Amino acid sequence: MNRTIQNELDDIKSRGLLRRTRLISGRQSAHVRCNDRDVLLLCSNNYLGLADHPALAAASAAAIGLYGTSSGASRLVSGTMELHEQLERAVAAFKGREAALLFNSGHAANTGIIPALVGRGDVAFSDRLNHASIVDGILLSGARLVRYPHNDFNALALLMAKHTGGRRLVVTDGVFSMDGDVAPLAELVELKRKHGALLMVDDAHGSGVLGEKGRGSAELCGVDREVDILMGTFGKALGSFGAYAAVSAELRELLINRARSFIFSTSLPPSVLAASLAAVQLVQASEGAELREVLYANTRFFRNALADAGFQIPAGTTQIVPILVGSAEATMQFSDALLEEGYFAQGIRPPTVPVGTSRLRFTLMATHAQADLAGAVACICRVGRRLGVL
Ligand SMILES: Cc1ncc(COP(=O)(O)O)c(C=O)c1O
Repeated sequence: MNRTIQNELDDIKSRGLLRRTRLISGRQSAHVRCNDRDVLLLCSNNYLGLADHPALAAASAAAIGLYGTSSGASRLVSGTMELHEQLERAVAAFKGREAALLFNSGHAANTGIIPALVGRGDVAFSDRLNHASIVDGILLSGARLVRYPHNDFNALALLMAKHTGGRRLVVTDGVFSMDGDVAPLAELVELKRKHGALLMVDDAHGSGVLGEKGRGSAELCGVDREVDILMGTFGKALGSFGAYAAVSAELRELLINRARSFIFSTSLPPSVLAASLAAVQLVQASEGAELREVLYANTRFFRNALADAGFQIPAGTTQIVPILVGSAEATMQFSDALLEEGYFAQGIRPPTVPVGTSRLRFTLMATHAQADLAGAVACICRVGRRLGVL
C-alpha cells in the first residue's frame, strides 16, 4: 500500500503520540500567556531565570550595535569574531579546562563531537536514557553502539571488558533530562581510566545549576578535571542559546578539524554570544550562587510535596521532577487538564522516553514563588486524583 503523509499522521495520532506546539506570548518568565491563557510555567529549562535577565538583554543589544546581527560565515571561513574567542576563553576558565569550542546548539555539539571522536571499528558506550542527540551522534559516527542499563556502572564494566576493539568512548548525560537524576561520574571516571576509554558528559541540565560554583555535575561529583569532554549548552540555565565542549587544547584542535557541525554551519551571531558571555559571568558571581540557592529550595519544596502526596517520582534530587503516568494518552490528558487550571507542564511521551513510562515533566525555576508552587501542588493533586493517577 502507498503510505501517504496523512496515513502516517493518522497512525501517530492513533497511538496518542501526535505532537503540537503550544504558543507562549511574551517573555519566558514564571508567569506566561500560553495559548491565550495566563499560566504558571512549569516546564521551561530557564532554571535560573536568566532568559529574562536585564544583564543578558543589555549585553545582547549592545553587541548588535557593535558587531551587527550575523557572523556572516562559518567559523573556518570568516565567521570567527572576537566574541567567539572571548566566550571560548570564558567557558574554559569557568570549567577549569585548557580550552573550549563553541557549537551552534547542543544537538549540533553531540552530532559533531561524537563522530569526530569515534567511527567504524570503535565502540560508543551509551547510557540507555541518554538524550536523543547523543544517540544521533553515535548512529552518525558508524561506531558500534553499546547501550548500558541506566546508571549501572557494574553492567558497564562487564560490557567494557567484552567490547575491547578500537577507540572507546563512554558517553552520558550529566543530569538526565527526562528523569532528573545525576550520572555516577566518579565511578565512570574510574572505569574509563581502567579501560583506557574517553569519557564525555553532556551537562545540558547541570551546567550553571549544580556544584558550589555552578560548574555542573562533574563539579558536584568532584571529577571536573577527569572528564575528557565536558559538553554543555547555553539554552537552559544560562538563558541564551548554543553549546560548547570544554576540552584539552589537543582535543579542541581535533574537533575544529573533524566536527562537521562545527565546520559546515554559520557560526553563532554576536547577540547570542554576548548574552552567553554575560550568563557565564553571572553564574559565577554571587548572584548566581543566590539564584541556585532559591532554585534548590524550590526544588526541595516541590519534590517533597509531590512525593508526600504519593506520586511516583523517579529517584533524583535536581530541578527536573517527573511524575510517572504510564500511557501517552493519560499523560496528555493530565497535561491538558492542568493547563485548563492555569498550570503549564508538558507531557513527555515515546520516543523521548521508553514506552509505558510517559510522564509529566515539571521543571523548577529560581523565579518561581513558593506560594505559586504550593498552589500548583494542590492543583496537581486534585487533577491527579480526578484522573486516577494518584
Ligand atoms: C541532555 C541534552 N543534551 C542536548 C540537548 C540539545 O541541546 P540544544 O537544545 O541546545 O540543541 C538537550 C535538550 O535540548 C538535552 O536535554
